[in-house]
Amino acid sequence: MSAGTIDREAIWTLRAVEQGEFESRTRRSAELTERARRSMPDGVPMAWMAGLYGHRPLFVAHGDGCHFTDVDGTTYVDFNQADLSATCGFAPPAVLEAIAERARRGLQYLLPVEEAIDVAELLAERYALPGWQFTLSASGAIAEAIRLARHRTGRSTIVVFGGHYHGHLDDMLVEGDERGGRPNLLGVNASAAAGTRVVGFNDLEVLGRVLERGDVAAVITEPALTNVGVVLPADDFHAGVRALTRAHATLLLLDETHTQTFAHGGLTRAWGLEPDVITLGKSTGGGIPIGAYGMTDDLRDWMERHRDTYVGAAGLATGGTTYANPLSLVAARATLREIQTPEAYERAAALGTQLADGIEAAAARHALPWRAHRLGGRSGFCLEPELPRDARDAQRSLDVELIDARRLFMANRGVWDAIAGAGPAASFAHTPADVDEYLRVLELFLDALAS
Ligand SMILES: Cc1ncc(COP(=O)(O)O)c(C=O)c1O
Repeated sequence: MSAGTIDREAIWTLRAVEQGEFESRTRRSAELTERARRSMPDGVPMAWMAGLYGHRPLFVAHGDGCHFTDVDGTTYVDFNQADLSATCGFAPPAVLEAIAERARRGLQYLLPVEEAIDVAELLAERYALPGWQFTLSASGAIAEAIRLARHRTGRSTIVVFGGHYHGHLDDMLVEGDERGGRPNLLGVNASAAAGTRVVGFNDLEVLGRVLERGDVAAVITEPALTNVGVVLPADDFHAGVRALTRAHATLLLLDETHTQTFAHGGLTRAWGLEPDVITLGKSTGGGIPIGAYGMTDDLRDWMERHRDTYVGAAGLATGGTTYANPLSLVAARATLREIQTPEAYERAAALGTQLADGIEAAAARHALPWRAHRLGGRSGFCLEPELPRDARDAQRSLDVELIDARRLFMANRGVWDAIAGAGPAASFAHTPADVDEYLRVLELFLDALAS
């Protein structure tokens, strides 16, 4: 293994050996996949469950804390956390108790329950935005936030940064440049995608040029990109984005779906950011589906004045029959009050540092000039000595063959690695011993590639 590079032959050879081991120890999952293929494409109830992994998906039997057990009886210590939607653990007692108690009093009314006020107040306090609405996913929250921004500004164009992911919406599933977007997946509405402009993360000059045209309703971004590894903002980036959006009467939407798990109050609070809208989802419900978005007083007032009503003029296109149901809300309340405490964030961040230090030390021992990402509990592999400044830099570290071989090797040794584009992350449910186990198996993997 030479510095900086890993021999492809070594990856392929190791992967082939690990694939054999995987097949022989996951026979029950294989049987279930075969049965499932008769009733579901690829044998999965949701296509990502097959597409996100280079190997056949496993069927899960049960989980608790940061461990889960597959139907063949193998237990894994998990560093993916269902792509940060299970950062509170797989069966957090506070959430289990809250939903069991609430369920006995009814599941769904299409009317508010008092607990909604508690959650909105908790979020308002934590994220410093006064008005909140709920959906069932981050994608749902982002769709509504974008419509609100479009209607408020009377403009339709949205700006995203390259390397973004903001959920399954036609105008977000795009690649392109400052002139416009095109679908980056099949089946996406090309005319919706065309209205989105794509600017390089950390590129204030191009952002300024695009906003000057005066047709941009909103800029949407994560505070730090988290779906191409991690890309951190340059020191002046967020101040620049805010100044430019204000100067051009464009709204700023911060997507904290992932980054809320890295700091109490999200990176918005940690970094003193001032968005018009914040969108949340994933682990906000401690594992129970929920999405949420918070808005300024001005937007709340706008929403009230343009409510969609059964009779009368058409209003803002928001809502879903099962949104803001009692179970989502009590799960979120328990999560916010009892799990995602300031102390829990500090513990997770310390584990993230342990993970990142360990990754860099393991790489150094193998003469690999790699860096580890550091963002709360989240780490990850940067395969270069310099951390990325934008998505193009970051893509160079997304070595799919290496990631795939590593996850298979680790799975065969009881460690569930993060999906490509993400990075291993320590959650509220991990301990230092769990992180040590990840690092022990990583060392074995690098040894195996070198031998
Ligand atoms: C930053 C970000 N925003 C939004 C979403 C959409 O979340 P969901 O698929 O739960 O709607 C994701 C999902 O990965 C995400 O990473």
